[in-house]
Amino acid sequence: MSSGRFQALKGMKDVMPPDIYIWQSVEKKAREVFSSFGFGEIRPPIVEATGVFTRSIGEDTDIVEKEMYTFEDKGGRSITLRPEGTAPVVRCYVENHLFNIPSPQKFYYAGPMFRYERPQSGRLRQFYQIGAECFGSPHPETDAEMLSMLGRFLAGVGLPNLRFQVNSIGCEKCRPAFKEALLSFFAGRLDDLCTDCRRRYHQNPLRILDCKVEGCREVRKGAPRVIDHLCEECRAHFERLLHLIEKLGISYTVNPEMVRGLDYYTRTTFEVTSENLGAQNAVAAGGRYDRLVKEFGGPETPAVGFAVGMERIVELLKMAVREDLPRPAAFIAVIGEKAGTEGVLIADSLRQDGYRTELGDGSASLKSQMRKADRLAAEYVFIIGDDELRAGELKWKRLSDATEGAVPASGVRDFLRNVSRSQAEEH
Ligand code: HAM
Repeated sequence: MSSGRFQALKGMKDVMPPDIYIWQSVEKKAREVFSSFGFGEIRPPIVEATGVFTRSIGEDTDIVEKEMYTFEDKGGRSITLRPEGTAPVVRCYVENHLFNIPSPQKFYYAGPMFRYERPQSGRLRQFYQIGAECFGSPHPETDAEMLSMLGRFLAGVGLPNLRFQVNSIGCEKCRPAFKEALLSFFAGRLDDLCTDCRRRYHQNPLRILDCKVEGCREVRKGAPRVIDHLCEECRAHFERLLHLIEKLGISYTVNPEMVRGLDYYTRTTFEVTSENLGAQNAVAAGGRYDRLVKEFGGPETPAVGFAVGMERIVELLKMAVREDLPRPAAFIAVIGEKAGTEGVLIADSLRQDGYRTELGDGSASLKSQMRKADRLAAEYVFIIGDDELRAGELKWKRLSDATEGAVPASGVRDFLRNVSRSQAEEH
């Protein structure tokens, strides 16, 4: 061991106060809303036999190909930290013959999932999902109920304006014709696909539609869409669903490009996205999986479910709280006593003009003062140190986009007046 100090693994995070209070209130809301729809909690183990995931999620998916935490246990069995919650719930449903209890059977779960992905903002290697699965109903009314439950939960935690995207990816009856259409579309474009997709072309061409490689995204522009190849039953199911969610007042868009990264879906698929989250913008996702119970050895049992990404919800809630806070227009960071005096005078003059102003602590480092300004979500930081005093100029920095510049010490009031005026004009 080099340093003797341990750190959490890459892509894995400690959740502590004060964030934990947001987590707890989100979980409480989920339990409340899901119970009102008749869902009961289920807690499957976090580790399963690897086959539980390879069989259900699909051998050619990114999750199974690249992202699973798979190990051999001391008995030489291949086991996997669950990358998602649906397959374990289906395994539990079949193993415990829950299909003998009158349907629909409704379960929810909450807990950590593991995917060995490249960590980035909103994408972790251990993340937490709250999910719900409903077994036994083939009806579009049940899909609509699931969407309504998800919408109620999200609105209940304080996120009312999210975008629902829905699609139908058909059933095994519509698949063959669609597969044919895909094969002939990609036949002349194979050289432009990545190596994985060239293999997928032969094994599971649908997966090409979900590849994250930029080149493949380009190639698949104009590719056939499942929604144009639906059989009559799938089309009727989809149309009824759209009618119902319209009636329920859920605002949605049909996204025919959405295929989802897991193989088990049939018919309805959906995602809830937020524009505030950047590239990893799906807050929740799910769909129907009518064949999975049978594939696990149970009787033919249609099912539908979703999972919510906890970290992404918490991130959005924190942004909402930040937006609600009265933000300081200016934060004056000062380095040393002389600068401190200048800072007191400038802050005083800005407050006279009605600008909410915070003054930094001159004995603290500039870095910690900047952190404080960031925490308070100040619009502008003005920095006063020895150099600035000598030059009679302050440095300014706008925190929203990190633009910076200099302003004469006597001109800070005018500077803020000018920016407020131009902001008012923009609106
Ligand atoms: P999924 O789309 O793979 O679906 O994941 C659902 C949600 O989990 C995503 O929308 C996202 O919010 C969150 N999530 C996924 N991967 C990560 C990650 N690496 N870091 C942070 N958050 C992440 C499923 O897992 C299906 N089991 C959903 C389902 C349930 N379908 C039917 N029933």
